[in-house]
Amino acid sequence: MKALQWMGVNQLAVGDVPDPQLANPGDMIVRVTRTVTCGSDLHLIGGYVPFMRSGDVIGHEFVGEVVEVGSAVRKHHPGDRVVVCSFISCGACWYCRNELYSLCENGNRNPAITEALWGSAPGGCFGYSHAMGGYEGSHAEYIRVPYADVGAFTIPDDVPEERALFASDSVATGWMGADLGGVKPGDHVAVWGAGAVGQMAARSAMLLGAERVTVIDPLEYRLDMTRRHIGCETLREGYDDVGAALLEATAGRGPDVCIEAVGSEATGGPIENAFDRTKQMLRMQTDRPTALRHAIYHCRKGGSVFVLGVFVGIVDGFPLGSLMNKGLTMRGAQMHGQRYIPMLLERMSRGEILTEHLATHELPLTEGPHAYDLFKNKKDGCVRAVLVP
Ligand SMILES: NC(=O)c1ccc[n+]([C@@H]2O[C@H](COP(=O)([O-])OP(=O)(O)OC[C@H]3O[C@@H](n4cnc5c(N)ncnc54)[C@H](O)[C@@H]3O)[C@@H](O)[C@H]2O)c1
Ligand SMILES: [Zn+2]
Ligand SMILES: [Zn+2]
Repeated sequence: MKALQWMGVNQLAVGDVPDPQLANPGDMIVRVTRTVTCGSDLHLIGGYVPFMRSGDVIGHEFVGEVVEVGSAVRKHHPGDRVVVCSFISCGACWYCRNELYSLCENGNRNPAITEALWGSAPGGCFGYSHAMGGYEGSHAEYIRVPYADVGAFTIPDDVPEERALFASDSVATGWMGADLGGVKPGDHVAVWGAGAVGQMAARSAMLLGAERVTVIDPLEYRLDMTRRHIGCETLREGYDDVGAALLEATAGRGPDVCIEAVGSEATGGPIENAFDRTKQMLRMQTDRPTALRHAIYHCRKGGSVFVLGVFVGIVDGFPLGSLMNKGLTMRGAQMHGQRYIPMLLERMSRGEILTEHLATHELPLTEGPHAYDLFKNKKDGCVRAVLVP
């Protein structure tokens, strides 16, 4: 079958790989009908996640049609339309039973790498390096879905697949940021990053009752989309006085909840970001925490900061003094999608969460390298590029 493969840093190619086979009774095989680029893939493509091997198939957000189920699969049948959570979780370990699905003890087949890096291993993820389990990704004609009854969900008849596609990752991620960030009715929420994840975090905060939501990004075309489709306020990083505007909007206190949806490749103020880039190039830090620093700095005293953006390792210039002295709560997580996807599909069916606008580009799988060029380099107004195998 055809698949989009990582061939080296900043090198992608469409090649022929073996068709997936059932490996365990809980597996199923899905014919991928739509799969989409994600900001997380950029960290792999740029070589910031050093656990890729040439030929690895990337992609982790997808919908498709069930074509074959293992003997233990109960929920799914050939012909079903499903959306699959990007994180792979067993559904039975202590973490899964406590709805902390991305921390699953069994989803990652290579736990030693992240145990050494982080102290213990999170679960696995499709197409996301050998550190996250070494699973084949979704930018392919077919994919094996382990723990199918836990991670795959039937798409309601009245939800178009173009919308359901985003439940597999960015909507669930955004919802988790607002939920675990502790958004309450009446809150002012600020979100750094106007990609799909940031926009969905903002929408989720609104649905959880936030009174005011402000999204911050340097790219005007993404802010324009956010204002039109999410319906919240925006500030342009590098152009607006973000700090003054956030204080003015909150009676001088600052936002109650600050959500970072940017991650390790943040851009930003010329001096600060040049410092971050140099340290990253010299391997004195693995990630650029530019936006995270801003989220901590601007958060109100006693507020909470939730890190949705992906970080790999160690960062420099972390404002611990601000965090401690302002009494902030800071959390982060890979998304616990299995906990939220059924509820999100219901909201999609009621039209409370719409995602079609995020798919600014739709291309055949064979144009995968071009799709990532548009997405990575923010060309032609790209927010997400959908691949159709
Ligand atoms: N936690 C999870 O489970 C999970 C799931 C999916 C994605 N992610 C991560 O979330 C992040 C966002 O994903 P995405 O697909 O929306 O990515 P994206 O690349 O489309 O969007 C990132 C946005 O951040 C903006 N940005 C850069 N520097 C900034 C700054 N200093 N201040 C404000 N905005 C800034 C960029 O202009 C861009 O619009 C990525 O790091 C991705 O890896 C995490
Ligand atoms: Zn993703
Ligand atoms: Zn588990």
